[in-house]
Parts: sequence; structure tokens; C-alpha cells
Amino acid sequence: MAPTNIALVTCSTREPRLNPSITEYVHSILAEEIARTNWPGKISIVDLAAQHLPLYNEPAIPSHLPSQDPTPHYTHAHTRAWSALVKEYDAFIFVTPQYNWSIPASLKNAIDYLFHEWTGKPAGIVTYGGRGGGKAGEHLVGILNGLRMAVAQTRVGIVVRREVMEGWVGSAGGVGEEDREGWRGAGVKEGIRGVFGELVKG
Ligand SMILES: Cc1cc2nc3c(=O)[nH]c(=O)nc-3n(C[C@H](O)[C@H](O)[C@H](O)COP(=O)(O)O)c2cc1C
Repeated sequence: MAPTNIALVTCSTREPRLNPSITEYVHSILAEEIARTNWPGKISIVDLAAQHLPLYNEPAIPSHLPSQDPTPHYTHAHTRAWSALVKEYDAFIFVTPQYNWSIPASLKNAIDYLFHEWTGKPAGIVTYGGRGGGKAGEHLVGILNGLRMAVAQTRVGIVVRREVMEGWVGSAGGVGEEDREGWRGAGVKEGIRGVFGELVKG
């Protein structure tokens, strides 16, 4: 069935961080696309930082839990809340930075907590970093394939200038309209549209 409830996942959890502004950018492109295509669904931002997940601490192996309703079988309230939230969505777009040639531990940790809540659902990947975060994207594809998710072929890598990475904390720093223009020019907009198109076709 074609998804109608997509989560746009902000994956970095440090403070401060660039991720929310990149997620907002992706969200703005998706909003244009939703309006253009009259897609009847909705896209919500899910921020991993708001989940306050400790390093994985469940005694069970998530894939061994009952597939129909694993939620009550988790030991911890933070896992049950995360499970219930992820279950609500029928597709995901992960917006993640690259950390040391891979995804941040915060994202791997959040993924590892669950299994059946992810399985079989479509997933899109948007990475960012000094060179676009392609290596994080490759790792994430492997992980999501392991969860039997339907990973979109279209991959988006957003190149972030060093000044933006380092200077966004102050009011003078951060992602500006010039950056957004540059990304659009680099085909990022088409990429995001491509991911969306693959996800909603079911
Ligand atoms: C621990 C760490 C490792 C990083 N490794 C890479 C890397 O391998 N490649 C890259 O392009 N950028 C790398 N960066 C730069 C990040 O992509 C950049 O700082 C980005 O702003 C991080 O996203 P965040 O601010 O939302 O956490 C790294 C940053 C951190 C903090």
C-alpha cells in the first residue's frame, strides 16, 4: 500500500547541531512537492534528540519479539514510547550527517532498539557532510536492507561548506539562502523529489 504518513527523521542529537536546519530545508522541498502532486498524506519531523534514548539497554532481541505487536514486550518506557511512535509511520526519510565515514551512533542506536516497527516499510536517505556524506549513506543502506526495508534507489548528498559546519552556532553563521540556492543548483531538489516519488508510489 502506498504510504500516507511519512516521518522525516533528524538523526544528530548533539547540541547545538546543524541537522534541524537541513531537515527544515528537506521539509520545505517536500512541502512544495506535496502541493504540486496533491499527495493526500502527511510528513512529520521526528527528532531523535527528543526521544532521549540511552545506549541500547533492552534485554530482548527486537527481531525475536512477536511481530504483530512488539511494543508491550519491551522492558523500558523509553523503548515502548519509541516503538509506538515508529509504528505510526508507514515510511521514513532519514536526514543524517556523516560521522567518521558512517552514520552517527545516535541513529544506529535508535534503529537497533526496534525491528518489526521498521520491517517492510519504504525508506529514503538524505545525507550531509563536507563531501555530502555518501559513505554514511552506504552504511545506512546496508543497515536498512538488514531490516528488510524498501530503500529508495535515489540518494541525496548535501555538501556543507566548512564555514557552515563551524560557524552556524552564532547568529551570523548557519545555513543561508546562498547555501540553499547552491544545493538546488547541485540537483539536491531533484534528488529529494526523486526520493519522495519512490516512497509514495508504494
Ligand atoms: C564526530 C564527527 C565526525 C565527523 N566525520 C565526518 C566525516 O567523516 N565526513 C564529513 O564529511 N564530515 C564529518 N563531520 C562533519 C559533520 O558532517 C558536520 O560537523 C555536521 O555539521 C554534523 O552534523 P550535526 O551538526 O547535525 O551533528 C564529522 C563531525 C563530527 C562531529
